[in-house]
Amino acid sequence: MKKIDLNEWMSKLKLIEERAEKLALLSQLSQILNSTLDPQEVRRRAMEAATRLMKAEVGSLLLVDEEKQQLYFEVALGDREDDIKKITLNLGEGIAGWVAQKGKPLIVNAPEKDPRFFRGVDERTEFKTRNLICVPLRVKEKVIGVLEAINKQKEEDFNQEDLSLFISLADQVAIALDNARLYQELEGMFFQTAESLADAIEKRDPYTGGHTQRVTIYSLIIATYLRLNPLEKKWLKIASVLHDIGKIGIEDHILRKPDQLSPEEFDAIKRHSDIGAEILEHIQQLRGIVPGVKYHHEQIDGRGYPDGLKGDGIPLLAKIVAVADTYDAMTTDRPYRKALKKEEAFEELKKCSGTQFDSEVVEAFIQAYQKGEI
Ligand SMILES: [Fe+2]
Repeated sequence: MKKIDLNEWMSKLKLIEERAEKLALLSQLSQILNSTLDPQEVRRRAMEAATRLMKAEVGSLLLVDEEKQQLYFEVALGDREDDIKKITLNLGEGIAGWVAQKGKPLIVNAPEKDPRFFRGVDERTEFKTRNLICVPLRVKEKVIGVLEAINKQKEEDFNQEDLSLFISLADQVAIALDNARLYQELEGMFFQTAESLADAIEKRDPYTGGHTQRVTIYSLIIATYLRLNPLEKKWLKIASVLHDIGKIGIEDHILRKPDQLSPEEFDAIKRHSDIGAEILEHIQQLRGIVPGVKYHHEQIDGRGYPDGLKGDGIPLLAKIVAVADTYDAMTTDRPYRKALKKEEAFEELKKCSGTQFDSEVVEAFIQAYQKGEI
């Protein structure tokens, strides 16, 4: 019977343990990567994952620019990021260019001896590349970029085991990048559809050319000063674009009437905020913007419409759209009056701050104006 060598057995066990740890880390990193659909965040996490999984000093992500047939650094070393971002590699140039062109992974443990190694990055950053591992990122057989880890810690070299782990990570990175891209495309398409809808309504009302776009710009500027989070900003953007969608249900002779409206006609116009909310309620994904659309004519003192909400009872999105909407109405020509000058319009907003408009929203808008953003 073969005698069991305890030392050998222990070192095998240690190897198995290390592998299990690496696989657990890979699975954890993959989960982190795929838990966001923000492309920039996916790229940042990809680079971080490359660094952690490969126990490297730094990681970088280069993406292919198909038109130019070049690779550009998407994310790279912290401090030197701006220097590095200016560097582009032609396909075939440098290690990364070679990997992207051939679609094959590569370990380079002695870059100074490898003719493919591109010294430009080290020269510009005073960074010394000791060794690197580089794998292609593939989506449906197409190389969309490469992932690199540079300088393995503890003076070690990269090995075949690192490579197979890194290839698995690259698969996850490619999936996450592609998902984020698809999501962004979908979202872009949605915004364009929303804008076309808003445009269709504007076309019926000849006096408001460009109104929706300007209201959206003003709203988003206010949002920045009020430090709204990205999700709130996204809702606000859609609410601004679609705030008057309900005008689709208002008859032309009222909507296009050049003279002062009768009280009945004004009542009819007032229905547009409710109609807008009714239209949008059908779309599950747009529930978050309904309050912004429904209540954009409410006033802090409760004298607005449709429900006469007061103060904090009015949703923030609606309070912001209200200020942006009114400011644009004041500063554009209408058939029954000339446009006010910017200063005059801001004076009006100030006068009505706390009664018609939310004072914090007005304050944010004034700050933006004073900084020349309006
Ligand atoms: Fe409106």
